[in-house]
Amino acid sequence: DGPKPLSGRRAIVTSGPTHEPIDPVRFIANRSSGKQGHAIAAALAKLGADVTLVSGPVTIPDPSGLQVIHVERAQEMLDAVLAALPADIAVMVAAVADWRVADAAGNKIKKQPGEAPPLLLLTENPDILKTIGHHPQRPALVVGFAAETQNVLENGRAKLERKGADYIVANDVSPETGIMGGDRNAVKVIGKSGVAEWPEASKQDVATQLAALIASHFA
Ligand code: C5P
Repeated sequence: DGPKPLSGRRAIVTSGPTHEPIDPVRFIANRSSGKQGHAIAAALAKLGADVTLVSGPVTIPDPSGLQVIHVERAQEMLDAVLAALPADIAVMVAAVADWRVADAAGNKIKKQPGEAPPLLLLTENPDILKTIGHHPQRPALVVGFAAETQNVLENGRAKLERKGADYIVANDVSPETGIMGGDRNAVKVIGKSGVAEWPEASKQDVATQLAALIASHFA
């Protein structure tokens, strides 16, 4: 059913948040639902691509017709993405935690009467998109996302360059937009030759359009 312009192409998609442990029972996370990334993985599969979806912890179901690898931490997500190479297409949609706790505790941190609260020392996580964008086995087409609350275009353009991506799909995730966790999205697709502002649409429709844009590169 439907044309398969991506048949024979391999795609890797990341989606969802990451959970970075503080101790065995606590973690740092973010509000990503995985809805946009999962929809993109499904849309690429629908066009015939052989898709590996690397998903952080989400409550939505695995899409059918593709391979799903479940991970928790950014480091695990990176390992799974690298293990899925080589690929023709990478779409990094996950809201990867920028930082993790430097020295996560092996046992639950206990509240001690009269003691000051613990201080969490953070350290930087690997940047999966940047790693893929500069990798010796870089996929032919690399797409990143940029969830911003300010200066969406400027930040998106800088990210395109810095991360070695072909496109950055930028969206405004300010709380009043309802985008983070919601069912709709309004994106600006930033490429090397300019910016396309797509009208607000469902995350499904944004995924379908993005998959079509990706397929046009392999036509
Ligand atoms: O730098 P920033 O987090 O805004 O970049 C967002 C883009 O980079 C997204 O495509 C996201 O999936 C990716 N990213 C990543 N690894 C990180 C941080 C972001 O792959 N550690």
